[in-house]
Amino acid sequence: MTETQQHQHTDLQGRVAIVTGAGSGIGRATAIAMARAGARVLGVGRRHEALQATAAHHPGIVAHPADLRAPEAPAQVAQAATRQWGRIDVLVNNAGATAMMPLAETDADRVAALFALNVTAPSLLAAAALPHLRDRKGTIVNISSTYGHRPLPGGAHYAASKAAIEQLTRSWALELAPEGVRVNALAPGPTESEALSAAGLAEADIDRIKEAEAARIPLGRRGDPEEVAQWVLRLADPGTTWLTGQVLTIDGGLELA
Ligand SMILES: NC(=O)c1ccc[n+]([C@@H]2O[C@H](COP(=O)([O-])OP(=O)(O)OC[C@H]3O[C@@H](n4cnc5c(N)ncnc54)[C@H](OP(=O)(O)O)[C@@H]3O)[C@@H](O)[C@H]2O)c1
Repeated sequence: MTETQQHQHTDLQGRVAIVTGAGSGIGRATAIAMARAGARVLGVGRRHEALQATAAHHPGIVAHPADLRAPEAPAQVAQAATRQWGRIDVLVNNAGATAMMPLAETDADRVAALFALNVTAPSLLAAAALPHLRDRKGTIVNISSTYGHRPLPGGAHYAASKAAIEQLTRSWALELAPEGVRVNALAPGPTESEALSAAGLAEADIDRIKEAEAARIPLGRRGDPEEVAQWVLRLADPGTTWLTGQVLTIDGGLELA
């Protein structure tokens, strides 16, 4: 057990969480950390084997393969959680993709695919889970990025999709506050995951990008998914009853540089 895990205080005993993108990176670390904190976790993603590998870390995790861009997927995911456990306390909208697309190369299909995953899918899943979140006075944690509030030359549509999730977070927080449902976002900086290879970049380019990112981060290194996951847990913590509508950046100081 790492030092970070030993210092985990969040108690999610008996809670039910949906974590999207649970087959790798930040989502896998979040699913495992939530299960260790006592939650029953429905881990969602397209690749069954990747989800099984996550589930192998803890018996509290159940794999639910689904493509979140499919029209029927959000309702089916919410149903899968309630069929298994009868409730939903926490929704972590983590599945997402990055795309480098300079303005001159703007492609309508790529823009649509990016927004379908990063903006529409979390919206529809939150809507599907809402009746259950209302019942439980539950909480939503959306995963944004440092680039949700900083410009990203060459990746403007990724940045715009994350800016959208930050505004959804603030608007839903106000909309749902009267019902006791809290909505916050976590905005990580560059973190070890499969995101760069999933964006189709070559190994040599990935190494170069990682080196350049680490050099720009004031604390001198990229993040680990496990340390990012700890902050997802803190935002979801049932004891954190007076925090809503916030976007917490965890990026080694990159936002300030
Ligand atoms: N790593 C970073 O540097 C960083 C920085 C800031 C923000 N973020 C954000 O953090 C979140 C997690 O990303 P990550 O860095 O952990 O990258 P990752 O390892 O690529 O994880 C993304 C996950 O989303 C799942 N996913 C992709 N398309 C999907 C779809 N259509 N339906 C269902 N699941 C889908 C993927 O699984 P399948 O391929 O099996 O579906 C994968 O497990 C994303 O929202 C990302 O934008 C990451």
